[in-house]
Amino acid sequence: EKGGYKHFMLKEIFEQPRAIRDTTLGRISLDTGRVFLAEMEISDEEFRDIEKINIAACGTSWHAATAGKFMIERLARIPVEVDYASEFRYRDPIAGRNTLGLLITQSGETADTLAAQREMIAKGSKTVAICNVVGAMIAREAHGTIYTHAGPEIGVASTKAFTSQLVALFLFALHLAQVRGSVSEDESRTLVEALSLLPGKVREILHTCDSECEALARRYSGARDALFLGRGIHYPIALEGALKLKEISYIHAEGYPAGEMKHGPNALIDETLPVIVLATKDEHNRDSVLRYEKTLSNIQEVTARSGKVIAVAIEGDTAIRQLVDHVLCIPAAPELLLPILDVIPLQLLAYHIAVRRGCDVDQPRNLAKSVTVE
Ligand code: M6R
Repeated sequence: EKGGYKHFMLKEIFEQPRAIRDTTLGRISLDTGRVFLAEMEISDEEFRDIEKINIAACGTSWHAATAGKFMIERLARIPVEVDYASEFRYRDPIAGRNTLGLLITQSGETADTLAAQREMIAKGSKTVAICNVVGAMIAREAHGTIYTHAGPEIGVASTKAFTSQLVALFLFALHLAQVRGSVSEDESRTLVEALSLLPGKVREILHTCDSECEALARRYSGARDALFLGRGIHYPIALEGALKLKEISYIHAEGYPAGEMKHGPNALIDETLPVIVLATKDEHNRDSVLRYEKTLSNIQEVTARSGKVIAVAIEGDTAIRQLVDHVLCIPAAPELLLPILDVIPLQLLAYHIAVRRGCDVDQPRNLAKSVTVE
């Protein structure tokens, strides 16, 4: 049942090229760049009238939500608020008919996320679910569902569901942008084409990074703490890398916006601390290049204090090799799609470290796959 893999988690990490392809299947046209979303009880006119989107989710799905905010705001120019589902109801959120509720959930049964959805509906909002389990409660109560076609996820640590959620969010953002006229046909075509190339790129990363991460695990599995840094849309990926590591290896890990280090966390750095930095860039995107340059100075802040840096960077980036201890390479992609690639080495790193520490990777202590209590 594990298809020759030692753990479900590893099998699911390796299923990502297929999961990503299946999530786009039938929803994009390479000729026109258009995105089609079926099963929506929300009209294009309603999509045009939306003034704000409220996203609620938990755990890894909340990280997808936080990356999704960048996609929706950048492409559709609609302001997005992201909440932990467990916090949403208790702040008397501002929501109504012109607010769209978006729930992100692998299981579709998470109690807090369901409660947030009911609060949104009670306030008069329509809701869309991004969900992996067909017919799950949250999908049944939503006015529209974008199913992620990741297939059943058994490992408690979410992997293929996460990258599929990012794909679904990207499709949703681009669809909204097309309905609202905030994206050109040219840009749509370029983005849809880039989306269709992702499965091959993920396959390439799996091929090169698996053994590299295994080697890094040998070196760093004894660490007591770890830091994950990113900027912009890569900050939620840093959070996700930290969550993966802590939940399966029990190493204390934190994700931080790289620029915030000097406001406190720099005090933690010493020669025993591995710092994993997302230092990719999209050459065609000015903001991304700027983000990359700032990230390089953040890396120097870490190395100047003897921290050990593992960077995730774009293939062919020779400059970064001079600055850090290890580089994990990924292929280039547009900025909004890079998270789907740069999370893969983080998943592999967490997996190999946990295996080396003898942890029960698929069934970490104190955790359940589906959290049905508030
Ligand atoms: O089924 P959901 O996506 O609603 O679950 C949300 C979280 O419980 C889940 O992502 C959890 O954080 C995972 N263990 C992360 O790997």
